[in-house]
Amino acid sequence: MDLGIKGKTAIVTGSARGLGKAMARRLALEGANVVVTDINSELAQATAAQLKAEGLSIHCVVGDITQAQDVQRLVDETCATFGSVHILVNNAGFPRDKYLVKMSEEDWDLVMNVMLKGAFLITRAVMPKMIEQGWGRIINISSRAHLGNPTQANYSAAKAGLIGMAKALAQEEGRYGITANCVAPGFMDTEMVQALPTYEIIKERAVQTQPIKRAGQPDDVANAVAFLASECAGFISGEVIHVSGGRFG
Ligand SMILES: NC(=O)c1ccc[n+]([C@@H]2O[C@H](COP(=O)([O-])OP(=O)(O)OC[C@H]3O[C@@H](n4cnc5c(N)ncnc54)[C@H](O)[C@@H]3O)[C@@H](O)[C@H]2O)c1
Repeated sequence: MDLGIKGKTAIVTGSARGLGKAMARRLALEGANVVVTDINSELAQATAAQLKAEGLSIHCVVGDITQAQDVQRLVDETCATFGSVHILVNNAGFPRDKYLVKMSEEDWDLVMNVMLKGAFLITRAVMPKMIEQGWGRIINISSRAHLGNPTQANYSAAKAGLIGMAKALAQEEGRYGITANCVAPGFMDTEMVQALPTYEIIKERAVQTQPIKRAGQPDDVANAVAFLASECAGFISGEVIHVSGGRFG
């Protein structure tokens, strides 16, 4: 199936590794120009070099998504390199898990800033281009955790917030040919979760409670993102696709 995004330009935040890297590769394999952007300079450059070596159209911009000046530089450099921005994937994010009584203000602020403020800053920065060209795709990477997880009051709130934001944008920007949707992954076997001390326990519990009995892989999420970015999804907006092996609770 031709997804109709050849020659379009995508920014994937937090794409130095994990799910973001898989999304960047998938969109570029569909013929999109992709900007790999991440706060981790060394890893972002290594990933961009690897994807370029695979023959893909990739540009790398290092920056912190929570800083307005970094975000503006990212969008300016994207437009200078590829001409515009058509697809934005708000993927950068991380957990700071603790029971609420033990959660510091810093734990709360870090999670809110990277996911909600970061998504706000970059979406605001790309929107004028999307409105001008009458075509755009905003895809927020939420999580199954938007339904609530113990020790994740901050993360669950931010991931639910990304859904609310996409639903608001769907209402606001639809008239300009812009859709806004979310992908909500369940357990995905990435470096982020592999680094958790409870990795093996979480993985086993996830696989046991999912109807589909395997760990989620980055490409499972990348496929959903590619679909939502495509021409085929032009009449779908304000939606949430769960990529969680059928697990919701
Ligand atoms: N892995 C899972 O099981 C899972 C499940 C549901 C949702 N998610 C979400 O998917 C997204 C990607 O997860 P992942 O597992 O690939 O994580 P990851 O840690 O492998 O990748 C996240 C990337 O974001 C980057 N980043 C962090 N702060 C940044 C900032 N301020 N500016 C720019 N980049 C920044 C990191 O350097 C990292 O490369 C996250 O939003 C995560 O919450 C992951």
